[in-house]
Amino acid sequence: MSGDLRAFVKRLEKSGELVRVSDELSTQHEIAAAIKYVAQDEGKAVLFERAKDYHVPIVANLLGSRERVAMAFDVTERDLDETYLARAQNRIKPVVVTSAPVQEVVIDSGIDICRTLPVLTHHEQDAGPYMTSAITIAKDPETGIRGMGLHRIQVKDKDTIGIFLATPPLSHFLTKAEQQGKPLPIAVASGVAPLTFCAAIFFAPQGVDKFEIAGGFAQEPIELVKCRSVDIEAPADAEFVLEGYIIPQQRDKEGPFGESTGYYFTYDNPVAKIKAISHRANPLYHALLPFSGEETVLTSFMLGSYTLRQVQRELPQVRRMHIQLVGEIVIAQIDKKSDEDGAKVIDYLLSNPFAKIVVVTDGDVNISDLDEVAWAVATRVHFDRDVTIKSDLPGLMIDPSTSGGEKTPDLSQLTTRTAKIGIDATKPLSELKKFERIDVPQRVKQKIWKIMEKR
Ligand SMILES: Cc1cc2nc3c(=O)[nH]c(=O)nc-3n(C[C@H](O)[C@H](O)[C@H](O)COP(=O)(O)O)c2cc1C
Repeated sequence: MSGDLRAFVKRLEKSGELVRVSDELSTQHEIAAAIKYVAQDEGKAVLFERAKDYHVPIVANLLGSRERVAMAFDVTERDLDETYLARAQNRIKPVVVTSAPVQEVVIDSGIDICRTLPVLTHHEQDAGPYMTSAITIAKDPETGIRGMGLHRIQVKDKDTIGIFLATPPLSHFLTKAEQQGKPLPIAVASGVAPLTFCAAIFFAPQGVDKFEIAGGFAQEPIELVKCRSVDIEAPADAEFVLEGYIIPQQRDKEGPFGESTGYYFTYDNPVAKIKAISHRANPLYHALLPFSGEETVLTSFMLGSYTLRQVQRELPQVRRMHIQLVGEIVIAQIDKKSDEDGAKVIDYLLSNPFAKIVVVTDGDVNISDLDEVAWAVATRVHFDRDVTIKSDLPGLMIDPSTSGGEKTPDLSQLTTRTAKIGIDATKPLSELKKFERIDVPQRVKQKIWKIMEKR
């Protein structure tokens, strides 16, 4: 299969984007420590050839740069945002096949998740092994429409998992199943094709099967296969699929887990029983380190370009956006036409539940570089004029500074409250000359950069 995980790993290696680690490392913290090292040092993807007690290699930091996400889409980094938004509109329905690589081995008795999958324990106080890159698939109990999302999963014992279902559509499916007093069948696919993975975290309209978006991304139908023990279809080219069901009305302590915000988070979450595991004959495990550059790339790219389109409908002066920390920090670059523009953009963006800090800059600031943003804030802001503070707005549950946290029946993500800040770091239109950025002459720059590039 052309676009599956292992084919992508081969492509990364061929283009020098992958490093191999041949030392035997433990799944208990050691591989997480090594991923942290590689991500910070070279920023490349990393393949661990030998995990202690397993015969399964582990790949990590897969989509840790925009260039690698662009490689998955087969486009240049510059064309990435346009391509992905355009392809998301051109949905292609999946097809169901009868035989699949992921069912080369089927285990339906004596289930022991951590004997089969090298699930990593990441951070020091984590409650145990967590699957952080597996896609959970379920069907709407009323309409039968499929849904999927990336949800953290704690392996609690041999056949039991805790699952953090804080976002739709799966949180809604569980609410509906519980209203009917029924379990919610699920399939948990690990090691899916990179574009299927991207589709799982795409902000899809309600009722849309994200496998159609994955098909749009891949520009061909995604092949699905029926699970052996539940009425769900999973990607035929996945490396592993866990099949089971979420127990209705049960919530158990899940965590602590070192979250995307950089803090431990514990919550009473749904519990699922796993009834069967299928996998490839020589499977590959896909790991994703929470609170890493890879998460920033993923959230900035998926959330950023989607939110930009929405914002531009109301406020066309917004040119670009950069998003960090699961969406909590939003930096917007605008073409300012009036001195009220900054405040308008701040007002609009702070109404988004993710955004907690919004900074608006002019077009001469590289918003992907936080040093540049700090420069603009320090030198362009009058703090008694350009700052907006808003109290008691919906915030991210996994941010420890938010308060409240009462559970709603659908486990909605927006149940905590927080205060937010907006900073207008744009130049006043009447004083543009005073804020002219220093530079060497353009003509000289172009000439010298060409010389320097050839060195
Ligand atoms: C790195 C990462 C981790 C995520 N972890 C969770 C999680 O543990 N629980 C959850 O409910 N949503 C989680 N999400 C969000 C959803 O999987 C999904 O991306 C998001 O809800 C958008 O899809 P939707 O529009 O279908 O809700 C995570 C997203 C990312 C990028």
